[in-house]
Amino acid sequence: MEGSNQVRDVHGRPMGALRISLTDRCNLRCRYCMPEEEYAWLPRADLLTFEEIERLTEVFVSVGVDKVRLTGGEPLLRRGLPDLVRRLAGVPGVKDLAMTTNGVLLGRNAETLREAGLHRITVSLDTLRPDRFTELTRRGTHGDVLAGITAAVATGLTDLKIDTVVMRGFNDDELVDLIEFGREMSAEIRFIEYMDVGGATHWSKEKVFSRAEILKEISSHYGSCEEIRKTDVAPADRFRLPDGTVFGIISSTTQPFCATCDRSRLTADGMWLRCLYAMTGTDLRTPLRDGATDAELRELIAGTWQRRTDRGAVDRLSQRETGRVFVSVESLKRDPHLEMHTRGG
Ligand code: GTP
Ligand code: 5AD
Ligand code: SF4
Repeated sequence: MEGSNQVRDVHGRPMGALRISLTDRCNLRCRYCMPEEEYAWLPRADLLTFEEIERLTEVFVSVGVDKVRLTGGEPLLRRGLPDLVRRLAGVPGVKDLAMTTNGVLLGRNAETLREAGLHRITVSLDTLRPDRFTELTRRGTHGDVLAGITAAVATGLTDLKIDTVVMRGFNDDELVDLIEFGREMSAEIRFIEYMDVGGATHWSKEKVFSRAEILKEISSHYGSCEEIRKTDVAPADRFRLPDGTVFGIISSTTQPFCATCDRSRLTADGMWLRCLYAMTGTDLRTPLRDGATDAELRELIAGTWQRRTDRGAVDRLSQRETGRVFVSVESLKRDPHLEMHTRGG
């Protein structure tokens, strides 16, 4: 593979982070993501093999990617995952290899993943109350998630993060408890605004607990929060409490960060999406399986990125007032690629 060759899109944004979804299956049914019990699943034969994922990662690195995050559905459901982690950790130019997981299977996998070379883990945890967890996810595995977080801490995986989607009337009264929990675990907690994306068919503007409200709630308990100046293009804005504890807010709904977005997504079947909200993507599996060379794949990826104009969250914000439904349930049923659990959040 040739050395790094940074490519920029129409708005001057480089390609930096690649999110690779390893499966569209999940062992939870979070109501903000997978409100239905059954979905149209990707055919197994279409899933990229580990060799194919490794090869595409090398090509992406050659056009500027240096951060890779493994996502799902739930990535720990993918068989043989440590083997893939080992391969990707060995790709020169991958400076940061992370995974976003719901934590249910983390207890039995954390050690192996660290040994395989995974750098960081982010666990989704929306509530500390088992009854609420069951109501939200329709599964009774809250204890497994907490055990998974404890196991990740015990293995010495540093830079642990916890992601919490805040929904009005559901968990907006747990922000302080979650900050305290994060502190106990030496994990940084990030509060995420509820987004109107893919399978969030129960979304409504009223349920969004905004960045401003999150800050108000937290400062009324701890005192004023100091915003930490950003040195990267990550979606989270970070704040410091008077006692030094740091937390983040991802305000994709009320204050989108599209202007600096350097990320794209690869679905488990090789569809490359340049925006979380994109309606179409580029099929990389077909050229890959038809024998495209690295140079041809690089040209396809670089050329497509150079034409990228996406600013999905900004567009939604400006069009939301029209009351329009962005993705109908019927189209979600027809095309699994529109679903959040296929795109990896
Ligand atoms: P690091 O900053 O590298 O730790 O990772 P991250 O924040 O990208 O990872 P994570 O998977 O924890 O993402 C957090 C959440 O931010 C996701 O689950 C989404 O809710 C939201 N998010 C991630 N990427 C995007 C994006 O491209 N656009 C928007 N609007 N939201 C995103
Ligand atoms: N709004 C905000 N975040 C969401 N996620 C999934 N669906 C939504 C949504 N509607 C994110 C959560 C979860 C990750 C896997 O995907 O952050 O932790
Ligand atoms: Fe929940 Fe993540 Fe599974 Fe979606 S993919 S149902 S957010 S655990």
